[in-house]
Parts: sequence; structure tokens; C-alpha cells
Amino acid sequence: MGVSSTAPRLLRAARGEVVDRPPVWMMRQAGRYMKAYRDLREKYPSFRDRSEIPEVAIEVSLQPWRAFQPDGVILFSDIVTPLPGLGIDMDIAEGKGPIIHSPIRTQEQVDNLRPFDPEASLPFIKTILQALRLEVGHQSTVLGFVGAPWTLAAYAVEGKGSKTYSIIKNMAFSDPTILHQFLAKLADAIAVYARYQIDCGAQVVQMFDSWAGQLSPQDYDTFALPYQQRVFEQVKQTHPDTPLILLVSGSAGVLERMAKSGADVVTVDWAVDMAEARARLGKHVKVQGNLDPGVLFGSKQFIRDRILDTVRKAGNWGHILNLGHGVLPETPEENVAFFFETAKQLNVLV
Ligand code: CP3
Repeated sequence: MGVSSTAPRLLRAARGEVVDRPPVWMMRQAGRYMKAYRDLREKYPSFRDRSEIPEVAIEVSLQPWRAFQPDGVILFSDIVTPLPGLGIDMDIAEGKGPIIHSPIRTQEQVDNLRPFDPEASLPFIKTILQALRLEVGHQSTVLGFVGAPWTLAAYAVEGKGSKTYSIIKNMAFSDPTILHQFLAKLADAIAVYARYQIDCGAQVVQMFDSWAGQLSPQDYDTFALPYQQRVFEQVKQTHPDTPLILLVSGSAGVLERMAKSGADVVTVDWAVDMAEARARLGKHVKVQGNLDPGVLFGSKQFIRDRILDTVRKAGNWGHILNLGHGVLPETPEENVAFFFETAKQLNVLV
């Protein structure tokens, strides 16, 4: 019996094997649109508690698994979770996202970053990932995830989410020496962290370069792509068989460049037609996506039509069915359930 015959569907599809139907999961499938999550949030109001107390993080990760049996179960955590391990203190504020108390802006701060030891600084990660593997067995694929260097640097330099990215762009577009050193250090730490997640049980790792879509293509080539490559190369050196997925928000103008990152799977958002994305990327690049998360506010007929349309356009190889970005907090749970049910009947429907 081949190694992969017992492997779950998402893992097989991400490796390029032909599967009976496209695997399906949703980004942010654990979260505020679920009543079970909102109830638990009342008991544990701090995001860091919800994601760093192993029993709570395990419970949150498994809420969508129990409700919908997706083909992928993602670790409940955040892209900024490893930053305190580098000496960058942070919090995640309700409705706002990450807050970095002392933003990184000087050479001295970059020089003083701590060496990153995930086992010591993130002891909960192993407990969570092992529990998820045990719970889902061969029925689903456990995904780990990391933030990409540019996106983590944007949070660390700006101190919070930004609309303009004026502080990091000031660094990037005046004297970028300090920023390049910071990006390099982040890339090496992120590679260590991704490898660690795989060693702890993650079967696929997705890297979020959410804010790289804010860069012009030429600046993407200078500040995002080389550091994505640096992470993926290091991970592939030690873990060549673990599929790696890349996401960039607002990626329509850099789709071809994303394929040069070394990722096995490129996430496509809904600003690009899936058939056109396939044509632009070529036959050998696997894709994930790409429904508008807003489709889940539509009628059942509309949701079903869009799933069928996306799956037909993606073709029957190398496609992970997903939204183009995270599920929105106001989404009716019933429509999420319908999305998964419909997607799982696809071998009958298409
Ligand atoms: O996908 C999943 O289910 C796994 C969990 C997950 C979270 N954040 C939990 C979370 C993942 C994969 C992330 C990644 C993440 N975090 C990204 C990349 C994905 C993307 O959106 O492009 C980014 C940019 C962040 C930073 C961040 N953390 C933001 C922008 C926010 C949202 C602020 C808000 O309130 O809308 C957070 C907080 C956060 N992380 C929430 C969740 C479910 C919402 C807060 C909460 O539930 O209390």
C-alpha cells in the first residue's frame, strides 16, 4: 500500500494527486460567525488566552470540525503569535487586531531581537497540533500557518494594522537597510516556526502574506517575494514532502509572481476569474480558492451555482476549494453548513 493511500484528501490534492472531489475548507472557519465561538469568547475574553491555553485553542479549532467536517482543520492561533518569542510584545485587541507596544523602527531594536526557540516560547503549539491530529485521524488534514516576513514586519513596524502603511513604506523607500535586516531575521524565524509546526503534526502549512498586495509589483519583488522564497526554501530543505500554500490579499496583479515563491499552492481571490487564474499560472501550479466570502450572504441556489462554477473553472486537478479570503463575522452559520454539504456532494454533482 502506498504511503498516500491513507492520506486525507486535502493533503493528497496539495501533493498533486487526483482526488474524487476537490477538498474544501474555509479560512477563519473558527471564529465569530459561530455561536459556539462567541459563547466561548465570553468565558475567555482575551484572544491570547483563547489561542494560547491549549484546551481552549483545541476546542476552538475543533468547533468547525464538529459542525461541518471540513477537509482541513486549521490550528487556532494568529500570525503575530510568535512575535513575543522574538522579544516583540503584542496583544490582539477586540475588533482591531494586533497591537505591538514598542514598534520596531531602529537598528538597535533589530540587533536586539531574541533568538527564536519555538519549543521554549510557544509550548502550547505542540499540545494543540498533536491533539488535532489525534482527533481528526485520517478523516481530515491538519493545517499549520505562519505570517510572511513582509506582513509581520508591517505589523511590527506600524505597531498595528494600517490603511496606508506609511511608516514601513517610509523605511522601505528611503533607506531600506534596517528593514532588509529585519525581513531576513523574520524569514529565518518563520522558517524555524513552520518546521516546528510540521514536526508537531501540521500536514500542510499556509503562509499569509496578507499585506503584500499593498506593494506595487516591483516593490513586491524587492520586499515580499525574496523573503517568501527564503522561508519556503528553508522549509523544503528539511521537509520536502509537506505542501506549502501562499496567500496574498489583493493578489490579482502579482499572481504569476506568487508562483515563483516556491509555494506548492497559490491562493486566488475573487477579483480574478478562476479560469483566467488557471490560464495565467499554467497547468502545473495548484490553486486554492476563490469564492467571494460575500457569496455566503446569498441564496442557497446562488451559493451552489458559484461553487459549481468555481470547481468547473478550476478543473479536476490541483484545486482546494475555499473562499478567496476569510469567512466574514456576520455570515449565517446555516449558509456555511450548506456550503460544506454542497461541496462534499460534488463528485455526484459535477
Ligand atoms: O483561519 C482560521 O480559522 C485560523 C485562525 C486565524 C486567525 N487569524 C484567528 C483570528 C488565522 C489563520 C489568522 C491569520 C491572520 N491574523 C491574518 C492573515 C489572514 C488574513 O486575514 O489575511 C492576519 C492579517 C491576522 C491579524 C489579525 N488578527 C487581524 C487583522 C484580526 C482581526 C481583527 C478583527 O477583529 O476583525 C485578528 C484577530 C483574529 N485572529 C480573529 C480571529 C478569529 C478575530 C478576533 C476574535 O475572534 O476575537
